[in-house]
Amino acid sequence: MKSAVANPPNSPTMQTAITVTRSACREDFVLRTIFVNHQYVAEADAKISVFDRGFLFADAVYEITSVMEGKLVDFDGHLARLKLSLGELDMGLPLNREQLLDVHRQLVERNRIKEGLVYMQITRGAAERDFAFPPPDTPQTIVAFTQKKDLIDNPAAEKGIKIVTLADLRWGRCDIKTVQLLCASLGKMEAKNHGADDAWLVAEGYVTEGTSNNAYIVKSDGVIVTRNLSHRILSGITRNAVLKCAEHLKMKVEQRPFTVDEAKGALEAFCTSATTFVLPIVEIDGEKVGSGMPGPVARKLREIYISESLGSAI
Ligand code: PDD
Repeated sequence: MKSAVANPPNSPTMQTAITVTRSACREDFVLRTIFVNHQYVAEADAKISVFDRGFLFADAVYEITSVMEGKLVDFDGHLARLKLSLGELDMGLPLNREQLLDVHRQLVERNRIKEGLVYMQITRGAAERDFAFPPPDTPQTIVAFTQKKDLIDNPAAEKGIKIVTLADLRWGRCDIKTVQLLCASLGKMEAKNHGADDAWLVAEGYVTEGTSNNAYIVKSDGVIVTRNLSHRILSGITRNAVLKCAEHLKMKVEQRPFTVDEAKGALEAFCTSATTFVLPIVEIDGEKVGSGMPGPVARKLREIYISESLGSAI
């Protein structure tokens, strides 16, 4: 009988097609070296157990550290938050600072990352599926990889991005950087389906944060407003650095919740994260923010953040 599939996935023709496409378009992806459970391996050999609790229960935390000029931005800030996240989930840090720094640096070097990021994930390890934690001596899984990305020359920073607002459906401990990212992922897709780039999440009438970034507005009197830290939002490492930049620039900052209407009536809006730095927001739910162009406060903070980070990266 004739096969319904013209080229079954394992046919030589399909294999060749896959190989050609990969080598043509995703060379960096295929050639990456990955850190998995204390070993540096080729991407094809980077494997973890199907019983890993990160996979089965999202019982894992992660950090993303940006890389500029081959150096790590705010490594110690990310390490401090990693420790906090692990501690909140009753997990320890499987490597010390020097070892973690070495892993980050080795990956940057081996993968020739001039600009991009290092992703690191630590899980409670692999164990028979059970909601209760496995014995404390279960080895934790640790995985790290790099991604190349143009962080400084980002067209979105020039143009600004459009966002929509969505209900914040996440759990009550958004301050812990877990890998439970389905709400963020669905939110980004909903934004895309509405012709926008991202979404801000709203709980009880107030903006909490972006799907993967912290949220800010600039009021008509020039005051920057961003939500205060609590279990509701992630304490962004970029947020911390950008608020310091604002302080040096003598910009006034209020840390308090703000509504979507307040954001729509603001002069400027922007967001921050390790992978986007400071990104101006020019449209919220189809309505222009201010002039509908990136504003001077976001531009200035982006510029200063980048130069400060270049100076302090290790
Ligand atoms: N996201 N809030 C959320 C929900 C985040 O996921 C992130 C980071 C931030 C900003 O944190 P930081 O400035 O430390 O990057 C705020 C990363 C970049 C991500 O998951 O891709």
